[in-house]
Amino acid sequence: MKFFIDTANLEEIAEAQALGVLDGVTTNPSLMAKEGITGEANILAHYKKICDIVEGDVSAEVISTDFEGMVKEGEALAALHPQIVVKLPLIADGIKACKYFSDKGIRTNVTLVFSAGQALLAAKAGATYVSPFLGRLDDISTDGLNLIAEIRQIYDNYAFDTQILAASIRHTMHVIDCAKIGSDVMTGPLSSITGLLKHPLTDIGLAKFLADYKKGNE
Ligand code: E4P
Repeated sequence: MKFFIDTANLEEIAEAQALGVLDGVTTNPSLMAKEGITGEANILAHYKKICDIVEGDVSAEVISTDFEGMVKEGEALAALHPQIVVKLPLIADGIKACKYFSDKGIRTNVTLVFSAGQALLAAKAGATYVSPFLGRLDDISTDGLNLIAEIRQIYDNYAFDTQILAASIRHTMHVIDCAKIGSDVMTGPLSSITGLLKHPLTDIGLAKFLADYKKGNE
């Protein structure tokens, strides 16, 4: 299972990278705005900085909603750095653009996916990644994990290559449940990764080992 971090914060990306388990980064316009990154030139420069920190895929989202605009933006993003994956919204023009990029060998991440039917369309259009938003479904009392399971079954039925990128992860249990279902990738905040480290018995056990060593070596 690949671990992506869902942020545009360079310090958090560097911390996850330093842990040695990071496989990539996802961003979106809201995450860029949260870091105060505005204006096309600054946004493009920020993507380059992210690519310099991580070794894996970096999703960069288009803001156009028409096919021509998405193609123009996506080509510019893909030309920025070999690690860039063009992130496209799941709307009709997004699916057309996904097919266009897939035919050209440019990798894509189809985002804002909330149903199995949408995920099927993304796979048929040749998406590299499909991003079902688990947390946002849970937020409206709908079973987000069930959607991940449905997509897993459909993709396996037809051996689609599209990787399921469980997005909008909120906490460590989401990560574990997605791993059990067989999601190819998860993207979440730094806390959803570092939270996996924690267990009180680990802390208690380590303290005891160190205390016993100290006693034996006094
Ligand atoms: C992923 O690509 C999305 O941008 C992200 O996971 C959305 O998460 P949120 O629901 O926490 O905003």
